Order: sequence, then C-alpha cells, then structure tokens
Amino acid sequence: MYEELIDKAERARNRAYAPYSHFRVGAALLCSDREIYTGCNIENISYGATCCAERTAIFKAVSEGRKGFQCIAIVSDLADETFPCGICLQVMSEFRIPKIILGSSHGKYKVYSLGELLPNAFNSLERKG
Ligand code: THU
Repeated sequence: MYEELIDKAERARNRAYAPYSHFRVGAALLCSDREIYTGCNIENISYGATCCAERTAIFKAVSEGRKGFQCIAIVSDLADETFPCGICLQVMSEFRIPKIILGSSHGKYKVYSLGELLPNAFNSLERKG
C-alpha cells in the first residue's frame, strides 16, 4: 500500500510547477474510503503564494468532500526524505492525518506519526476567564 502511494506521489512530483526553486515535491493522500488524491507544489512569482504539494493534495480531497484520512506519502527530488513544512503539518493536524510516509531514493521510506513531527499543534481558540 505504501509503495503504491509513493509511486503516485512520484508521478505527481512530475507535475510540479517549480520554476523558482526547481525543487519538485509530490504527495499522495489516502482517504478513509481508500480514494487517493495527489498533489504537487505550485509556485508563484510572489513566493508567499506558493502552495506545497501536501496542501495541494489535502485541499483537493477536502474540496471534493473527503473528511477522513489514513495517511499521506511525500517525495521530493532529494535522495533523503523531505520533511513537511510547519504550515503543512498544521493543516495535517486540522484534518487529523495520522501517518506521514516520507519516501527517499531506491524505494525506501519511513513512517512517522503526526505527533512525532508536530508534538504541540495549535489546537484551541479558547480564551482564559
Ligand atoms: N515544498 C513542498 O511542496 N513541500 C514540502 O514539504 C517542502 C517544500 C515546496 C514549496 C516550494 O515550492 C519548494 O518546495 C521549495 O521550498
């Protein structure tokens, strides 16, 4: 299963729009109903408008009505694993994506829990008093 997700993430990486960083990232998100949504990073000349591959996949799935998720696989062009940025981890926390699979070269991968990568997510708007 993880191999299939990594394969889909690699295919999505080929669709990255990264003319500024030339750093391509692909993601594949497995939903509770076993549907898979992929995403790539989409950059912008106004750099802050860039969307990471993970968020592209998550926003595609949520906008199509998916609410439950099993895991997300991520690959970049690096031989080593690429950890998601803080904003993407916060989005994964919002949608309770419990497991993160980070692919590296030669078909290797590691599985992390969201808690390992974001142990103290922002999760409350409650005020004191
Ligand atoms: N990027 C991702 O798509 N996901 C990550 O986990 C890390 C960074 C993208 C954003 C930008 O297009 C490029 O990689 C360089 O930061």
